[in-house]
Amino acid sequence: MNRYLIAPSILTADFGRLKDQIQEADTAGPLIWHLDVMDGHFVPPLSFGTEIIKTVAKATDNLIEVHAMVAHPTEHFDSFTEAGASRLIFHYEAAMEAPNLGGPGLGETVLRARETGSEVGIAINPGTRIDEIEELLPEIQQVTVMLIRPGWGGQQMNPELLDKVKQLREISTRLNLLLNIEVDGGIKPNNAKLCIDAGANILVAGSAIFNQDSTPQQNLAEMKKSSPNLE
Ligand code: DX5
Ligand code: ZN
Repeated sequence: MNRYLIAPSILTADFGRLKDQIQEADTAGPLIWHLDVMDGHFVPPLSFGTEIIKTVAKATDNLIEVHAMVAHPTEHFDSFTEAGASRLIFHYEAAMEAPNLGGPGLGETVLRARETGSEVGIAINPGTRIDEIEELLPEIQQVTVMLIRPGWGGQQMNPELLDKVKQLREISTRLNLLLNIEVDGGIKPNNAKLCIDAGANILVAGSAIFNQDSTPQQNLAEMKKSSPNLE
């Protein structure tokens, strides 16, 4: 059985008191830390790198996943894992482009992520179809379906993209896979249940958890209230 969990993204957290913010959120119950690494190439912004992953790892016992929005994912797998990540999520689109940049192809990217001992996730942009990744599903532990264009927190989700979540859940049930289906982008208490009903079991939430309005604990509680399946 897949667990239903919130995965807070720290993009809009207060980095001046990051350790405290992590520990405050951790008091709200089980969760997954979703760390958005951006390289200024795969997506225009730069976010943060391994030092922040290490800071989070020191502050929490919860699982850390890295969402690598980077053009050369394989070059960073070892440093992400050494910094404390135990799930590596790379973008399908980056892996498809990598051979043109002198890097390995898609299958090899999956293998190299797995070689670190981490769980492996593939993230797909709004324009990528499920059939493009279908044959890899038995090889990986997670698919992260982007409900926004990656690169920025605080955007509105496109609910039509939840059709891809439905397709994934149908394939995963048919093939009897223990696949996590994560959704990322624009998830709030008022649409969390929509994502779960479509078949998602991990909900990334950035600005819904870290904002000026309330504490991370209160925001996590609010999100859980909206969807009874969430732990
Ligand atoms: C965007 C990131 C998301 C983002 C989510 O590229 O992948 O994880 O931080 O933030 P919200 O929940 O504010 O859309
Ligand atoms: Zn993300």
